[in-house]
Amino acid sequence: MTHFLSLWDLEGDQLNDLLQDALRLKAAHQRGERPPLLAGRVLGLVFEKPSLRTRASFEAAMAQLGGTSVFLSNPDGAMGVRESVPDFARSLSQYADAVVLRTFKHKTVEEFAAHSCCPVINGLSDAEHPCQALADLMTVQEVFGDVRGRTLVFVGDGNNVARSVAVGCGKLGARFILAAPEGYGFDEPFLQAYRRHCRAGELVQNGDPRHAVDQADIIYTDVWTSMGQEAERELRLQHFAGYQVNADLLALAPSHTRVMHCLPAHRGEEVTGDVLDGARSIAFQQAGNRMHAQKALLKWLLLEQQAPAEVGAPISRVP
Ligand code: CP
Ligand code: NVA
Repeated sequence: MTHFLSLWDLEGDQLNDLLQDALRLKAAHQRGERPPLLAGRVLGLVFEKPSLRTRASFEAAMAQLGGTSVFLSNPDGAMGVRESVPDFARSLSQYADAVVLRTFKHKTVEEFAAHSCCPVINGLSDAEHPCQALADLMTVQEVFGDVRGRTLVFVGDGNNVARSVAVGCGKLGARFILAAPEGYGFDEPFLQAYRRHCRAGELVQNGDPRHAVDQADIIYTDVWTSMGQEAERELRLQHFAGYQVNADLLALAPSHTRVMHCLPAHRGEEVTGDVLDGARSIAFQQAGNRMHAQKALLKWLLLEQQAPAEVGAPISRVP
């Protein structure tokens, strides 16, 4: 069973193929084509945290591909509360052809996948946001023509989004510079895994964004306080002061530099409104690309990775 829990799981050429297909699907969509490639298929969505883009883009993608989706949030989706994660997975995965999970703990996604009889997609955990990274890399490809050789400077927290984008850049031969305050960078296990799996890329940790953005093709930022970290908000506001993507920082970057944000944005914290709404922002192109990238992912997982005969729980019969 092939799951999509993390970008670590994909080889660079597989990732590249997915991005090319996403761009083809976007072009087809813009021509008004809606090929029913997933007719009769059902996508389950189980979300422990709020979502606009991830939920809506997956549901729209399934509808446009001729399939349907079933959304479960708390309390219906309270995995591990009403029943155990394995029991939840073993039941739901018999009704769905794939399940998207948005969880607090990455371990929950892994535990669900271990007991699921259909492919599982990580729709954001505390460790990773690989669907976001797919759309981001697609957007870089679309805007710059290629990901390889580009430099992305991520300003802010070395969080789930930063990790997935760093791995994606590493797989495709781009340079990733993390400008994060002390204590918010990537940890040693992540750096070791990066060195093992991302030989094509380069990863640099550089504390001060003003010393990094002059090399940037892309400046990327995300919220300083992720979902689940709300109790740390006041402390984080202090630690991240000086890490805002604003007009002064952008003025230090080359004129071709573009600004990315996964959204939702906390305007006035990690990014100013004038930058997010400005001509150099490609944040809303990223948001739009979530749907096309996920269509390519669903096609790949459901049509190319497993034959229907492989899917489904074992059946017990009395001989
Ligand atoms: N970027 C992203 O995942 O947005 P949502 O939290 O709205 O799904
Ligand atoms: N890092 C953010 C991303 C939201 C899409 C969070 O986890 O809340």
